[in-house]
Amino acid sequence: MQGTAIAQPNIALIKYWGKRDVERNLPAVGSISVTLRELYTRMQVEFDASLDHDVLTVNGRPEEKMLPRLSACLDSVAGTARPRARIASICNFPIAAGLASSASSFAALTVAGAHASGRTMAADVLANLAGRASGSAARSLLGGFVELENREDAVVVQSLCTSAEWPLQVVVAITESGPKAIGSTEAMEISRKTSPFYAKWVDQQAHDLDIARAAIADRDFEKLAAVAEHNCLKMHSVMWASRPPLVYWNAATMRCMQAVRHLQGQGIGVFFTIDAGPQVKAVCLPEHVGDVEAALQATAGVADIMTTGLGSGARLERTA
Ligand code: PMV
Repeated sequence: MQGTAIAQPNIALIKYWGKRDVERNLPAVGSISVTLRELYTRMQVEFDASLDHDVLTVNGRPEEKMLPRLSACLDSVAGTARPRARIASICNFPIAAGLASSASSFAALTVAGAHASGRTMAADVLANLAGRASGSAARSLLGGFVELENREDAVVVQSLCTSAEWPLQVVVAITESGPKAIGSTEAMEISRKTSPFYAKWVDQQAHDLDIARAAIADRDFEKLAAVAEHNCLKMHSVMWASRPPLVYWNAATMRCMQAVRHLQGQGIGVFFTIDAGPQVKAVCLPEHVGDVEAALQATAGVADIMTTGLGSGARLERTA
């Protein structure tokens, strides 16, 4: 009646922004991401018939706010007739700050919950259940470079290449550790309803996915860098042109982007990507990681940096 799973967050290189079905949380566009290695969420689920409601701790402290979403996700995995659960989450990086903590949390929860309830489920089934809770969580079921394909009434995830096959590094520059002002679900709906660029964004996504997929197959870093930065800036343009405007950046975010541009000018293999938060993720070739770390560390407003390789998909930690 218990299961513990580990999942790593993932960072999208070709982004998901917008839903075509809010109720079922189906994305309007496909996406491509990299699963990280050093950042993780460890989720323990223990069913206990003596409990009359689910209880959640995050990093050892009781937490109420996230509980309804986690309970609903657990219902989808184990059925609504399941016993109530004690859920304990440990996360080694800032939560809800644009570092994809919801992706690792829900991916780990589905794997732990399925095990605790004695159910065997294929990765694609778990991906759809995790994706229902948080669209990007579906991608954390797999490792390395992952494509999420947007099918008629489901999502399909597949690994495009493993972390060993293309061991890129990611340097995360933390410019603010507080939670984000507006959550992605609400923000995506604002963009869909109000941004004049939204329809174009959705239209062009297949093209960006094709280019990124080919760049990954060819291990063509420059090609991947160009399409990933373009796709990221396009997503933020959709956000900025929304009403009210969705601006997740701060001054340090911008300075980090300039630092990356400066490195590129010196021939360093690096590119940036930014999600629904002010942190900058610099993806780089392994031989250049020291230069990228030094430059971002020295950038005014950067509180901390975290360096990580690419990792594997969500998995059980131990059986019980
Ligand atoms: O999965 P959500 O609802 O947290 O949305 C993720 C949205 C972005 O991080 C901005 C882009 C992405 O594809 O991960």
